[in-house]
Amino acid sequence: MSKITVIGAGNVGATAAQRIAEKELANEVVLVDVVEGMPQGKGLDMYESAPVEGFDTMVTGSNTYEATAGSDIIVVTAGIARKPGMSRDDLQNTNAGIVKSCVEQAVKHSPNSIILVVSNPLDVMTYVAKKVSGFDRKRVIGMAGVLDSARFRSFIAMELKVSVEDVSAFVLGGHGDSMVPLPRYSTVAGIPLPDLMDQATIDRLVKRTANGGIEIVNFLKTGSAYYAPSSSVVQMVEAIVKDKKRILPCAVWLQGEYGQSDVVVGVPIKIGRSGMEEIVQIKLTPEEQAALNKSAADVKSNMAKLSI
Ligand code: NAI
Ligand code: 2OP
Repeated sequence: MSKITVIGAGNVGATAAQRIAEKELANEVVLVDVVEGMPQGKGLDMYESAPVEGFDTMVTGSNTYEATAGSDIIVVTAGIARKPGMSRDDLQNTNAGIVKSCVEQAVKHSPNSIILVVSNPLDVMTYVAKKVSGFDRKRVIGMAGVLDSARFRSFIAMELKVSVEDVSAFVLGGHGDSMVPLPRYSTVAGIPLPDLMDQATIDRLVKRTANGGIEIVNFLKTGSAYYAPSSSVVQMVEAIVKDKKRILPCAVWLQGEYGQSDVVVGVPIKIGRSGMEEIVQIKLTPEEQAALNKSAADVKSNMAKLSI
């Protein structure tokens, strides 16, 4: 993999670019933003850290798309972020227009790329990117489940006072209030969560996970989370670049899987060099299936409000 474009050089985009460069996941990272001079300045500043950090990834910035030509991965973070009192869905109309225009321009210059969407509301924006690009569903993937499960893992580790490294967690569904954390598939060193904590504790951590985004918004007041979100999308970038074939919860277009069609929802996928290589189907309990159905229905009703 040689070239990665990050559209939107704000908090998530710039931090993702920095992490990609520091991990040397590309030869070149191009930051694109509408604010004049800002992506150029951040790109140069980042590259000037290369001698100190010891990476050879070139980082540049641009307000146009010529410099992005031939990118292997396009990370879309452009848009407005949540402010206190705003739901992710409040962002929908503004961000749909932004994501549409960014993706249209980006794919003209990088027709063979894989698009990773971060902009909110995530599931609907992933649908917008898929529709506008005309790409196969394997090449348009939304980031939310990695972040939501990272939050769940952090809360489990804090609760049990164990290393986060030993905690794995599973979260399905849309990136919103109806996300579906799955405690019985969440483990500490292989031990299922229900064997380690009582139901009331699990319920509390699940609720905190579902509200994980707004918890940070309420602290920051002027924006939303970006350290964990950028780490999460970079984990997906790394899985693609290194063809790792990781199993990660990602938002993809479903065509009958999990009983859902014509909707983007978070499910476990195998992610590697060609993007989404497989949707991993697990058997859900009736309650879990009902929660996933509700989450998908919420995404569908928001998709129906789109005017692109
Ligand atoms: P931010 O406001 O720091 O950065 C957004 C950047 O997009 C700004 O620099 C802005 O100038 C740029 N932008 C706006 N219109 C553009 C256009 N047409 N072309 C290129 N750039 C454009 O916001 P932040 O914190 O980086 O969040 C970015 C998006 O990611 C938001 O929609 C936010 O809600 C979403 N997000 C999603 C997460 C997820 O789990 N999927 C997690 C965190 C954030
Ligand atoms: C988050 O979960 C705002 O969606 C963003 O932090």
